[in-house]
Amino acid sequence: MAGLRSLIPLGTRMRVRRWLDARAQNHAYHERAHRAEFFRRAWVALKFNGISGDYVEFGSHGGNTFGLSYQASRAVGLSPHLWSFDSFCGLPPQSLPADEHPAWIEGALATSLDTFDAICAANGIPRSAYTTVPGFYEDTIGGAKGEDPRFPRDVALAYIDCDLHSSTRTVLEFLAPRMKHGMVLALDDYFCWSATALAGERVAVDEWFGGQSRFRLAPYVQYGWHGMAFVVEDVSLFDGLPSGRASVWAGMERPTT
Ligand SMILES: C[S@@+](CC[C@H](N)C(=O)[O-])C[C@H]1O[C@@H](n2cnc3c(N)ncnc32)[C@H](O)[C@@H]1O
Repeated sequence: MAGLRSLIPLGTRMRVRRWLDARAQNHAYHERAHRAEFFRRAWVALKFNGISGDYVEFGSHGGNTFGLSYQASRAVGLSPHLWSFDSFCGLPPQSLPADEHPAWIEGALATSLDTFDAICAANGIPRSAYTTVPGFYEDTIGGAKGEDPRFPRDVALAYIDCDLHSSTRTVLEFLAPRMKHGMVLALDDYFCWSATALAGERVAVDEWFGGQSRFRLAPYVQYGWHGMAFVVEDVSLFDGLPSGRASVWAGMERPTT
C-alpha cells in the first residue's frame, strides 16, 4: 500500500485529500446521504412487512427525493407507481400563523413541470412510472374523496416536503381516507421551527393525529437535522394486548407519561 502511494505524486494526493475533506463537510452531500438512507430503510421495511401501495410525494421541486425514492424502491425489487404533487411554481404565500418561518417565502423553490420531467429522465425514471399533479393543493387535492379516481387509493409511503403548515394540513386531509396500518409517513421539515413558533409540518401532524383516535404514529426514522418518519398504526390492533391500549406510548405527539 505504501509502495502504491509513493507512485502517486504528493500534489495529486493532497488535492484528492482536500476534495474528500470538502465533500465530507458538504451540507448537500450529507443531506442527500441521510435521505437516501431513509428511503433505503423505508422501502426495505415496506417490502419485508408486505405493505402494498404507491409512493406519494407532496413537494417535489428539484426532484431529489423523488429520484432517491424511485432508486431505493427499485433496489429492493418493488415497483410502486410514483406521484408528485406540486404547484411547480414554488411555495404559496404564508396564510396561517403556524406558516411563519423566515425561509418559507412565496414563490421560492420553484421548478417548472418541464424541468421536473427532465430531472426525472436524467435520474432514469421512465415517464410511465410516475404521475404529476400540478397545481396548488387547495385546487388539486383539496376536498378530494378517498375513492377519487384521479388519485391513488393505496399508499405505502407518503413523503411530505411542502414546508408550510397550511399546505401540510391540506395534504393530511387528503391522506386521511388513505391512511392505513403499516404505511410510512415521512415529514422532511418536521424539525424546522421559527424563533416564535413550532414547525409548520409538526403542528399540522400534531393537530391531525390529535384530532382522531383511529391511528397513532410510531416514531420510525429521524434523518438529517430536519426529517422525521413514522409508521402509521391502527390503534384498535392494540386492544387485544395484555398491556392494553392505554399503557402503550401513543407516539411522539402525545406521550402518555
Ligand atoms: C422543499 S421543496 C421540495 C423539495 C423536493 N422534495 C426535492 O427533493 O427536491 C417544497 C415544495 O413544496 C411545494 N409546495 C408547498 N406548498 C404547496 C402547495 N400548497 N401546493 C403545491 N405545492 C406546494 C413547492 O412548490 C416546492 O416545490
